[in-house]
Amino acid sequence: MCNHDKNKDCFEYVDSQLPRVPLELVVNGEKVHEMIDPNMTLLNFLRNNLKLFGAKEGCGEGECGACTIIMDNRTVNSCLVLAVEAQGAEILTVEGLSKDGQLSILQQEFIKEDGLQCGFCTPGMLMSARNLLDRNPNPTVEEVKKGMAGNYCRCTGYDSIIRSVLAAAERERKELS
Ligand code: FES
Ligand code: FES
Repeated sequence: MCNHDKNKDCFEYVDSQLPRVPLELVVNGEKVHEMIDPNMTLLNFLRNNLKLFGAKEGCGEGECGACTIIMDNRTVNSCLVLAVEAQGAEILTVEGLSKDGQLSILQQEFIKEDGLQCGFCTPGMLMSARNLLDRNPNPTVEEVKKGMAGNYCRCTGYDSIIRSVLAAAERERKELS
């Protein structure tokens, strides 16, 4: 929490002033090597150091899923992971879903089926959906609900999100197999 306004919660990253430690990992296919604050979360590392602003800090407590990314083929709440815990890991963020300026099938179906909602929840939803389809290319509605259970939207319904994931699954099975 920062010191900008003592009456408000603010998640802006505040340096701990501890001696820097080396961190090496792969993010969206690119090798990264940086000296970092050992207290920094993975979410802050992605946003502050790498300027990847897709993952968001919603609750900062592992409840909302806005900060979801994929680390070594598992979804994690990056607000709960220290950057140093990602030593040697392969990280995929929402920025890594598109290729050569072309949105992935999953992203396209989120747009088509109105699963695309606000910029706060959508990146995390996409990462959970990506991980689900990587593990299970033909999920049932119940499996989609379960796979997306850690991602909250406080504004709208979840039907369009579930439809988007099912439509993406169908297209990926046809077009990528
Ligand atoms: S910001 Fe990480 S789970 Fe809410
Ligand atoms: S939190 Fe993103 S649309 Fe509601």
